[in-house]
Amino acid sequence: MNTLYTLPSLGEPTLNPGSREPEHIPVLKETVVSSLITDREGIYVDCTVGGGGHAEAILDRLGASGTVIGLDLDADAVEATRKRLARFRQNVSLFQADFSALGETLEENGISEVAGVLFDLGLSSLQLDAPDRGFSYSHDGPLDMRLNRSQSKTARDVVNWYTRNELTRIFRDYGQERYASTISRAVIRAREGRPIESTSHLAHLVQCAIPTRGPQVKTLSRIFQAIRIEVNDELCRLKKGLLNAIAVVRGGGRIVTISYHSLEDRIVKSIFSEKSKGCICPPDLPVCACDRAVELNVLTRGALRPDDEEVRRNNRARSARLRIAEKI
Ligand SMILES: C[S@@+](CC[C@H](N)C(=O)[O-])C[C@H]1O[C@@H](n2cnc3c(N)ncnc32)[C@H](O)[C@@H]1O
Repeated sequence: MNTLYTLPSLGEPTLNPGSREPEHIPVLKETVVSSLITDREGIYVDCTVGGGGHAEAILDRLGASGTVIGLDLDADAVEATRKRLARFRQNVSLFQADFSALGETLEENGISEVAGVLFDLGLSSLQLDAPDRGFSYSHDGPLDMRLNRSQSKTARDVVNWYTRNELTRIFRDYGQERYASTISRAVIRAREGRPIESTSHLAHLVQCAIPTRGPQVKTLSRIFQAIRIEVNDELCRLKKGLLNAIAVVRGGGRIVTISYHSLEDRIVKSIFSEKSKGCICPPDLPVCACDRAVELNVLTRGALRPDDEEVRRNNRARSARLRIAEKI
């Protein structure tokens, strides 16, 4: 049996008034729809279909032959979206798939180019609020954190089998946590007696390892996020997914990204910036040797952020950064 420890609250649950079901509220919905759609009859890929919120808003705006292809690593997300989008059946195709293999998924379905691609990264409220998924320190549950539950590596494996150096690296690099080394030592000590099995056990030992005067909730959030990034190889998948998206979007089509973590946003910014530059040969070289063509026009100088009103309605939007690039 898991031991239940007292945990700080993460904040308001995201519930619809009058509903007992938690629902994911799509972030920057209007901006996503207006910046992504350039052709009402086009094919759009929602690479992170989640609860289907953005996909629904896109479909509402498309014409009779406009289509959304929705991907998600999480089978539960695909199922929830299938129900939510039942009224658009003719215009939607959903796949439990990894966006890092976007090109392959489209090719298998006979699609060579699309009008736009959306990435709304991170987790949905459906995942965060489900204790059995193990994503949140504010619910007791198994140390799982897999987006795709048929994958073998779980958070339990990371926490119980990684070396101290590996744990410190993850907490420092992915969590940007100043107590990375102290926390990894506490994890190693705690697992000497018996394996760490639950989110509440991990949260408790993190809380005990760091000074009580600071904001412990922020540390917990960073440690849990860092482990999740490692379990799901999120940064590597994002790089591959973006390169795939750039390859499949047709000229004039858009790629829209929403990130919630500075490392994700840095990857998006750097790939967009690199692909918006042409030849990088030294000016004194008589003939171009790099053979690089400009592929993107970046439409957002800095990232777009939700306004105060949106953050007030949906606290989970607070860290969102939206970027838009247009294929040349
Ligand atoms: C923030 S939620 C998306 C919410 C969605 N936009 C909506 O409005 O309901 C992010 C989703 O991306 C999915 N995801 C994360 N990495 C993925 C990947 N590499 N391939 C496919 N889906 C992924 C997660 O499982 C999660 O459901």
